[in-house]
Amino acid sequence: MITTSRLVLREWKDSDREPFALLNADVRVMEFMPKALTPEESTAWVERIRAHWRTHGFGLYATVMRHDHKFIGFIGLSVPTFESTFTPCVEIGWRLAAEYWNRGLATEGAEAVLRHAFATLNLDEVVSFTVPANRSSRRVMEKIGLVYQPSEDFNHPRLPAGHPLQRHVLYRLRRSDWRSKSRDEFSK
Ligand SMILES: CC(C)(COP(=O)(O)OP(=O)(O)OC[C@H]1O[C@@H](n2cnc3c(N)ncnc32)[C@H](O)[C@@H]1OP(=O)(O)O)[C@@H](O)C(=O)NCCC(=O)NCCS
Repeated sequence: MITTSRLVLREWKDSDREPFALLNADVRVMEFMPKALTPEESTAWVERIRAHWRTHGFGLYATVMRHDHKFIGFIGLSVPTFESTFTPCVEIGWRLAAEYWNRGLATEGAEAVLRHAFATLNLDEVVSFTVPANRSSRRVMEKIGLVYQPSEDFNHPRLPAGHPLQRHVLYRLRRSDWRSKSRDEFSK
């Protein structure tokens, strides 16, 4: 469990399934995903997230507001199961209910997850990727210190050739660069 000033990032509960299904059915939230999810698909995903935790010892956290414990989405780490030029890797990712956007919540949770990834799990590198048009997600990546790698744009192997969401941008951050950035922050 990770606690920040406004968030609690915790393990998944069965009661998260319903608000998660609502979020995954919201066309605003799913704008840059191939499709919105049915409740069954959403619940199956919760089970895959739990299995990922058991396999890797880390994963996507159910994310709730600290003051009222409302479920607002997920923030966390995952190991992509597809193959590409940059895999195997650990990805940092996020998805929040639209009514909670633009309050700095994804950035706040992601900063804490990144600290866990580097300082506790000792990972060498964390990546993130999205479609070029997903400006808010790219902005979160930049705010937490990940750096866009223009030479590594790629076609997502799970999407068919010519799909409008196939092209992706890749961001990276190595532990050594995170350390030196953190030191710079302290010395400001
Ligand atoms: C991506 C997402 C998690 C961001 O959550 P959030 O809590 O709103 O993020 P934050 O408030 O921490 O930061 C958002 C930043 O994007 C900026 N932003 C929002 N919309 C933007 C747009 N259309 N163009 C440019 N920047 C935009 C905000 O201004 C903010 O930056 P700032 O702090 O410099 O002003 C949320 O939008 C979401 O769940 N989207 C749908 C799911 C998704 O796309 N997940 C990522 C898949 S890779």
